[in-house]
Amino acid sequence: MADAVVASRKPFYKELQAGRSYLWCACGRSKRQPFCDGRSHEGTGIDPVKYTAAVDREEVLFCGCKQTATPPFCDGAHSNLPGGYADEAEIVEDLPWAESDAAGVRVLDGHCYVIRADATRPADAPDWWCRTIVSTDMGAQHQAQFYAELTSGRSPVLASAAGDVVLWVVGGAGEVEISGRGFAIACDTGVYVRAGEAFRFTQSGTATLAVHIHACPATQMLDTLDTMPGNFDTAWPDRLASVDESQRHAMGPRYFQLLVDKRVGSTTATQFIGHIPQSRAEMHRHLYEEALVILSGDGVIWNDGARARVAAGDVIFFPRKHRHSLQCTATDGMNVVGLIHPGDNPGINY
Ligand code: FES
Repeated sequence: MADAVVASRKPFYKELQAGRSYLWCACGRSKRQPFCDGRSHEGTGIDPVKYTAAVDREEVLFCGCKQTATPPFCDGAHSNLPGGYADEAEIVEDLPWAESDAAGVRVLDGHCYVIRADATRPADAPDWWCRTIVSTDMGAQHQAQFYAELTSGRSPVLASAAGDVVLWVVGGAGEVEISGRGFAIACDTGVYVRAGEAFRFTQSGTATLAVHIHACPATQMLDTLDTMPGNFDTAWPDRLASVDESQRHAMGPRYFQLLVDKRVGSTTATQFIGHIPQSRAEMHRHLYEEALVILSGDGVIWNDGARARVAAGDVIFFPRKHRHSLQCTATDGMNVVGLIHPGDNPGINY
């Protein structure tokens, strides 16, 4: 069998018609990319792959590099081809810098913004303090995010009527109780709370327990319950995700590790931790909505119409299909934790 050849180092975005079948070119030789032209694969031993769209206007990314392990769709393998994850060639130095408002928000273009998570914490903040970072009011359609700090004691009982909740601990230690079951948590821990369950935090030690709370699908606010329900879903007993260098996936010069994902029961929301070396990726888009928490390092987020400086403690919100590039300017690189929804692979870009 012949090798597949690279037709394109990027996937092809297509909107499909329900019930219609598409023949994806697997050999890379078709003159009708990304589809089979009926003849170019002859003699290669590589057959095209048929896909029938389930819903109208289904949005897909057909693999162009023909190296995907999930044919006919892109799985991000193109980023690891030579030239597949290039630095941005065109630097537009006169783009305006987004200005911060009183809430610590710097709006770029098209609902993309940077927000300083703790910018509105009052000097006399109560033991439990929580603010909105991403919500439907702020333009999100697929996820919400709240930033919370607990200096001592226990938080209220919280839940999201919208569905799943994914947590990321950025400081301190303690316990999270999920619908009657307790889990010890510390800095750099991911946690999954299934739809219908509730959760609350207990702080321990001397440091403030600080947590990013993601809710998917999008919502405007978390619910506060009077009592903790006892409906922990025992079919999914493992809810914690931690950093494990052996689980890293390369993405060009970057790498990421999946944290909360389908392995702990989350089917549409995926949490990951990633590292960006000192570099600026070329402009790209995603089909999922994404919120990135900067854990360390600094850099610049670029859109088509504006740019903003980012540093540890900032959150960047990216709408679906928004063209952007995140530049790391720190010599030690930048570490981020992200939440994508809907999606299961943060390595896919177009
Ligand atoms: S284009 Fe082939 S894996 Fe993305």
